[in-house]
Amino acid sequence: MSALPASSAPPGPSNAPIQRAAASLALADVDFRHPGGRAVFRGLHLAAAPGEFLVLLGPSGCGKSTLLNLLAGFLAPDSGSVAVNGHAARPEMPELGYVFQQPQLFPWLSALDNVQFGLKTAGRLAPAAQRAKALDFLRLVGLEDAAALWPHQLSGGMRQRVALARALAPEPALLLADEPFAALDAISRRRMNEELLRLWAALGQTVVFVTHDIEEAIFLADRIVVLGRAPAGIAAEFRVDLPRPRQLLETSRHPRFLALRDQLLECIAHVTESLA
Ligand SMILES: Nc1ncnc2c1ncn2[C@@H]1O[C@H](COP(=O)(O)OP(=O)(O)O)[C@@H](O)[C@H]1O
Ligand SMILES: [Mg+2]
Repeated sequence: MSALPASSAPPGPSNAPIQRAAASLALADVDFRHPGGRAVFRGLHLAAAPGEFLVLLGPSGCGKSTLLNLLAGFLAPDSGSVAVNGHAARPEMPELGYVFQQPQLFPWLSALDNVQFGLKTAGRLAPAAQRAKALDFLRLVGLEDAAALWPHQLSGGMRQRVALARALAPEPALLLADEPFAALDAISRRRMNEELLRLWAALGQTVVFVTHDIEEAIFLADRIVVLGRAPAGIAAEFRVDLPRPRQLLETSRHPRFLALRDQLLECIAHVTESLA
């Protein structure tokens, strides 16, 4: 997998300019249970500022995916409110980009066509401009040479980069990512983390990123929200005051990184103890 060259510029003014829009998020007093299931959230409050990189961390089953699906408007709260930019969340909102754990690419479309698909459905650009912009975003994730390849010809990491390019090309004000790199090997995952931060620095959207990996959480986040056993909701919050831009080796050796890792290990141990 080739790393994104440090000199890569974000898509330039030749196409639609980057808007650098970022969404605010607010969940207030949210109750939710899946039909026939137990309560996942009771009275949950959570907010994110425009441009914030928020990481949700917690053990399996604590409600991370449910929370993302509420933010995306795929699920509606039983009571309380979920607002994106002050309006009730709904799946067709133009602000939204979503990356899933398994890259959901269309197998019958090339890498480039997969990225262009998101722009077609957004419907704001003429086809030639869509194509140019799709190529810009493939370049941004280091895959311009793979534009004509089919998903089955790509490695897992490359597929996830295409999925990321597809989600980012319409310049979402809010990027929701549900353990997007969990299926990758440790080295590819670290590289993708670094690249995601580079893209985020260029594009400036609000991000809610789900993981159960403590080091990934610290490396990426402005703020980490740890979820406890459902329906406990938020068990703890950590502000990650590490300098940016972050680099793999340098950041993971930083004394604050190591201190945060200890605190989070302890916190997660408590949370999982209460799960037993
Ligand atoms: N579609 C569903 N129907 C019923 N229960 C569900 C459904 N999806 C998730 N759950 C339950 O809701 C809880 C939270 O699940 P989920 O949000 O997927 O957790 P996480 O992503 O943190 O692993 C779990 O107890 C899970 O079993
Ligand atoms: Mg999940």
